[in-house]
Amino acid sequence: MSRLFVYSNRLPLGSNPSGGLVVALGKTMDRQGGVWVGAKLDETLCDNQTLHEYKGAAFERHALHLPPREYNDYYLGYANSVLWPLFHGRTDLLDVADGQLDAYTSVNRKMAEATRHLLKPDDVIWIHDYHFIPLAAELRVLGVSNPIGFFLHTPFPSSANVHALTHKDRLLDWLSAYDLVGLQTQRDVSALIEVCRTVFGGQMLSDGRIRCKGQDIRAASFPIGIDVEKFRAIAETCDTSGLNIDPQQKLMIGVDRLDYSKGLPHKFRGFQRYLQRHSGEGDRLTLLQIASPTRESVEAYQDIRKDLEQLTGEVNGAYAELGYIPIQYIHRAVPRDDIAGLYRRASIGLVTPLIDGMNLVAKEYVAAQDPDDPGVLVLSEAAGAAEQLKCGALIINPYDPSSVAGAIREAINMPLEERVARHHRMWNEISRRDVYWWTETFLEQLHRNARDRRDREASLQDLERALSS
Ligand code: G6P
Repeated sequence: MSRLFVYSNRLPLGSNPSGGLVVALGKTMDRQGGVWVGAKLDETLCDNQTLHEYKGAAFERHALHLPPREYNDYYLGYANSVLWPLFHGRTDLLDVADGQLDAYTSVNRKMAEATRHLLKPDDVIWIHDYHFIPLAAELRVLGVSNPIGFFLHTPFPSSANVHALTHKDRLLDWLSAYDLVGLQTQRDVSALIEVCRTVFGGQMLSDGRIRCKGQDIRAASFPIGIDVEKFRAIAETCDTSGLNIDPQQKLMIGVDRLDYSKGLPHKFRGFQRYLQRHSGEGDRLTLLQIASPTRESVEAYQDIRKDLEQLTGEVNGAYAELGYIPIQYIHRAVPRDDIAGLYRRASIGLVTPLIDGMNLVAKEYVAAQDPDDPGVLVLSEAAGAAEQLKCGALIINPYDPSSVAGAIREAINMPLEERVARHHRMWNEISRRDVYWWTETFLEQLHRNARDRRDREASLQDLERALSS
């Protein structure tokens, strides 16, 4: 079997991973081994980047250490102040500054150069997320002809958003260097085809390739999953009694990075609407919101934090009573095992992104439930996970507080039989397409595409030889 060689900006180095990418890829790498390369800020460096190995995992780990200026322009700058908002439809939050794009492309080039010597001829290369879109093109320049796949964990942007990108033509060069571009959902594949048609004047070929200006893009959707059985086992065995939760308290849980794409103010306003309309009915409900800090030096993230703190105060000020706090807001990371236990303890999982590539929290909430007495998932229609989980979740429009409030009420009053049936359908879906399915199907398709490319290249060379002889 070929060795898997993975690149992503974030590496699993700390004990608490940030975001779904590290968790999902970690499962893959723990199971099949290989090499995982990431990037890291190194305050001690002045200019040149250096590659460091981190021992102690079931796979090889290397990080390209970058000096602060370059790291900030690449990671906080181009990746998270241009590409991230753009890919999440927030062109209003674009913060374009000189030097960002240069830093982004040069980090990608340096990553290719620094890791070229680690690559073996049989390796299968899998590059992840918006930080490293140009990396395959850079590796090709260095003569790497291995299969190279890309997976975008975020939504693929609409053509209206791609138009806001300076140097958008480069996106075509970058994407066409891959043997396979993996996206989360059908919605993303449609967006990519639309961008290729309207921005790059491309067309679909009969074998599914998209040809734009003589270059081909091969794309398909591979919804990312979780390790369902393992997560259920953690949730089953986690003891939440030490977490100081009143056993009588009805709990609704939200777990998100504190990111503007997650619709946290919308979630709070939806709950506020629920309290306005139904606070006197039945059991009192507390929203436990864990919002882990992320990208805090970017201004848009500081703004969302302020908004949320203000809203928490407003709602709690209006509806708290002695012994009852409507919103428990925790602005720090909580250990994953505790989170699994809390999901199982909560009667409702409330997931309200305004747009999201997949959202693995929704899947984890389902996996953690007791199948004989499960909670209800309330899920935004804009999460990639809704394509799969609409079979059992209550689907809401996060922009409409009444839609959120109505679903909370429906969830709280849902009879056991209906909860069990809905959970059963979602459980089947997430276990059929778990994280190992995701890796296997992606890599199979990548191998097929790379073989086709090599065959096409070989017949072209034959033809050229025949013509020149
Ligand atoms: C999202 C992105 C990942 C990223 C994660 C955490 O899931 O798709 O690429 O790693 O957020 O963000 P951070 O900037 O902390 O790595």
